[in-house]
Amino acid sequence: MKFLFERITYPTLLRRSLWLVVVLLSTLWASAALADHKSNHVDVVVEGLSEKAETGQLVFNQSCASCHGLNGQGSDAGPPLIHSIYNPGHHSNKAFYRAVTQGVQQHHWPFGNMPPQSHIGFSEMTYILSFIREVQTLNGIETEAHRM
Ligand code: HEC
Repeated sequence: MKFLFERITYPTLLRRSLWLVVVLLSTLWASAALADHKSNHVDVVVEGLSEKAETGQLVFNQSCASCHGLNGQGSDAGPPLIHSIYNPGHHSNKAFYRAVTQGVQQHHWPFGNMPPQSHIGFSEMTYILSFIREVQTLNGIETEAHRM
């Protein structure tokens, strides 16, 4: 009986400690992923842009970079837009137009609301979007289906 007991508990113990390691590791991984999501700076690669995107870059860096950082890399006043949560599946071009015309209530980040950018017209937005989407692609951001 004692023999049987030992034979049962040893692997159980092993399985439990393995389980503990798995839980610990996934907690670590989850907090790292969360920290990454909330990071307000990303390193953005910008090269070989189309002419339209280059114009968009100028407009963006004049009108949006004060909060979203140079080339959309993020700043202390606003989130990076070269970020997977702004991939076209999650934030369509329509969402970008809406953000600029109506402003944004704080919901993803701790920076407060974005005021409407009424000095930016539709054609400027077209350029800005060429820039954002090209740079997103350059930085490995892929369209993901919206899940929420
Ligand atoms: C005064 C600061 C400020 C300026 C200027 C600004 N933004 Fe924002 N923007 C923010 C903040 C802060 C958020 C994040 C709100 C949140 O999700 O918590 C944001 C979010 C966004 C979003 C996400 C919208 C959504 O649906 O979640 C888009 C798109 C955007 N900004 C585009 C722009 C563009 C394009 C410009 C320039 C024309 C611009 N912003 C200028 C502060 C700013």
